[in-house]
Amino acid sequence: MAHIKDVLNSMDYGPAPEGNEHVVAWLETHKAGFGHFIDGKFTDPGAGKSFKVTNPADGKLLARVADGSAEDIDRAVSAATRAFKSWSKLSGHQRGRYLYAIARNVQKRDRFLAVLETMDNGKPIRETRDIDIPLVARHFYHHAGWAELLESEFPGYRPVGVCGQIIPWNFPLLMLAWKIAPALAAGNTVVLKPAEQTPLTALAFAEICREVGLPAGVINIVTGEGDTGAALVAHEGVQKLAFTGSTDVGRIIRTATAGSGKKLSLELGGKSPFIVFDDADLDSAVEGLVDAIWFNQGEVCCAGSRLLVQEGIAEKLYAKLRARMETLRVGSPLDKSTDIGAVVSTEQLERITSLVEKGRAEGAEVFQPSIAIPGTGTFFAPTLMTGVEPASTVAVVEIFGPVLVAMTFRTPDEAVALANNTRFGLAASVWSENISRSLDVASRLKAGVIWINATNLFDAAAGFGGYRESGFGREGGREGLFEYLVLGDGKPKGKTAAMGALVAAPSATAEIVAIDEVDRTAKLFIGGKQARPDSGYSYAVTSSAGKQVGLAGLGNRKDIRNAVEAAGKAEGWGAATAHNRAQILYYLAENLSSRSEEFEARLRAMTGASKRQAAEEVAAAVRRTFFYAGFADKHDGAVHSTKSRHVTLAMNEPFGIMGVVCPDEAPLLGFVSLVMPALATGNRVVAVPSSRYPLAATDFYQIVDTSDVPDGVLSIVTGNAAELAKTLADHDEVAALWNFNSGVDAALVDKASSGNLKPVWNGGSPDWQGGDAQGREYLRRATQVKNIWVPYGE
Ligand code: NAI
Ligand code: MG
Repeated sequence: MAHIKDVLNSMDYGPAPEGNEHVVAWLETHKAGFGHFIDGKFTDPGAGKSFKVTNPADGKLLARVADGSAEDIDRAVSAATRAFKSWSKLSGHQRGRYLYAIARNVQKRDRFLAVLETMDNGKPIRETRDIDIPLVARHFYHHAGWAELLESEFPGYRPVGVCGQIIPWNFPLLMLAWKIAPALAAGNTVVLKPAEQTPLTALAFAEICREVGLPAGVINIVTGEGDTGAALVAHEGVQKLAFTGSTDVGRIIRTATAGSGKKLSLELGGKSPFIVFDDADLDSAVEGLVDAIWFNQGEVCCAGSRLLVQEGIAEKLYAKLRARMETLRVGSPLDKSTDIGAVVSTEQLERITSLVEKGRAEGAEVFQPSIAIPGTGTFFAPTLMTGVEPASTVAVVEIFGPVLVAMTFRTPDEAVALANNTRFGLAASVWSENISRSLDVASRLKAGVIWINATNLFDAAAGFGGYRESGFGREGGREGLFEYLVLGDGKPKGKTAAMGALVAAPSATAEIVAIDEVDRTAKLFIGGKQARPDSGYSYAVTSSAGKQVGLAGLGNRKDIRNAVEAAGKAEGWGAATAHNRAQILYYLAENLSSRSEEFEARLRAMTGASKRQAAEEVAAAVRRTFFYAGFADKHDGAVHSTKSRHVTLAMNEPFGIMGVVCPDEAPLLGFVSLVMPALATGNRVVAVPSSRYPLAATDFYQIVDTSDVPDGVLSIVTGNAAELAKTLADHDEVAALWNFNSGVDAALVDKASSGNLKPVWNGGSPDWQGGDAQGREYLRRATQVKNIWVPYGE
């Protein structure tokens, strides 16, 4: 027993362990192991293979858990399919009641869940108790509200169906909540696979589902490893997949689901910058860094793992940081005064260790404080690496451990360039007492979540998700619900569409003509100029009656690359005011209107449409252009209701450069319906018109030319739509792709898009004259939400 005098002298913390008897007793009752939770019942733990789940803090066995086979997945999907019939028909109010009940039960068991999570994952009890579990309850409450409001707030939308959800080990129950709460609120049913390292709170959650009387099959939990996840991904009965985890596996899932029509959201890795300007409050910034990189052992997808500090204050900040690191406490996760617990597994510990060694070998200076680190268990000391080059491994790859790498910059421009110099784009943190500088930098960062003078803030009302290779889709808030809904009847369109069987001409039999022979070829339109196709060839455009009506350029990869390069130089379009864009689109609409007759004649010659049909198509194209001109300054963001004394701005930002592959049917109206919303929201567009009937789109360049559209904002490349679509999907600078050409294989573009993980919308063939070919859905799909958190108060 220490004397009080000694304690006061040393100011050491005594041990403050959280009791875990209730969890130990619960595990004891499951000594025989855990089965899967399928169709409202736990399966026999003795059936089939199983694996061990251990406590990383001491390596001791916690439980044995069933290892899900493809048959287990199949049974779970069948149960979810059956349950969907009645669950999706309940009123939002009825579903909301279940979600409230879940939220209340999570709160009732909060201490149990916090302790269990800490034992399974190794994270400090302070975090599971104060952050993970309260946020879990918050998510269910928030989405109980959405269930209630669904019919009035999302008219015309329906649930997707059976959702397959695969989650990682870093926030096991929280990731479950982020996925299950919106899925259920929207009327879907779920098969969820927890991470193999941390399946226990998901199984405890299954017990909660039983307690609240959730109908059988609405939630199914199948435990297992990567191959269990892969079986879920492959299952034909799944209509939607939601994944959080590594970018590598995200890419595998993108490829595996290519062409399946499954809705997909991916929340992947990051290498998020933490930017400190010389006018920042340095002491606050140091506390911010503690929360950015030593929260959850740094095993956080949005961890502020790249410190970018303005040169003049770098040494001062490092000194303060090193001093603060000396006071961090690494130790038993169940101890209430532990700051940093155990890393999740020995594999993860080895990965962190080897990356730090790599950094050292590459010339970084490695600092670790002289604090006590437990001798057993998977603990890793908080680490600061300075003198790191932007191109070195540790500055580029996600370490997913308590390791901060630091670099310096001189000017705000350089800070932005360094911050964006990554393939990821999940989060960023900006520290400056100058609000105008902070918001300016926030607007220029390519990331889904930006915290100003703060870090790692989360709330169910604000969407969370990435730009670029950090994935696509959002979790939380209104924006997150769209991931679990489909517009209209929800039936995939395209294959059964009236003209869906059209070939993606030019076909092998199309006549290919060298351009020099005939010079009445419609050229490509690239960077504001007419351009000859790189191939030097054009192809014959034949009418539906088989008569040659003109020649179109046979564009290739090189032409697409040139168009993308030209779009890259037209960055000003996204930064222009929405009013400016609106004016230009009005001008486009007027110019199109004044040349209606030419376009009507062109359509008639190509498609054999009647005079009335052609006139209707042109008139609709004019109206649609006016529609998006009108909308250009009305696709507003929101201020989310998150925490008190915070403004959380949800900004709808353009993707940047979009590829748009247009349909053969409605050659003018289809083109306009897709290009205009993309332009209105500030994107630059590389459009591939109908291959079969490209001439209405190539005539369109004259309209563009006379309407003050800046060079490079819209390029038009004709040719084989499938080949050009694949090139767009492959291209790393193309940030999003819409494919509405039913002759272009969705699988082909989906697969090719996995390089930079751009979102792809295979839109099928809407009724182009009708209401589902225009509206907010198109604006929403042309933008990504950036949430900027601005705390206020002294
Ligand atoms: P992982 O991506 O392999 O695991 C995440 C989940 O995916 C787990 O449930 C796993 O069983 C499942 N899975 C694995 N292979 C699959 C497949 N082929 N098909 C379907 N599901 C599959 O991540 P892992 O191996 O645990 O960690 C490796 C690295 O990934 C970490 O060091 C970290 O850098 C990153 N990571 C990022 C996370 C994030 O939140 N962004 C979370 C976890 C890991
Ligand atoms: Mg474990």
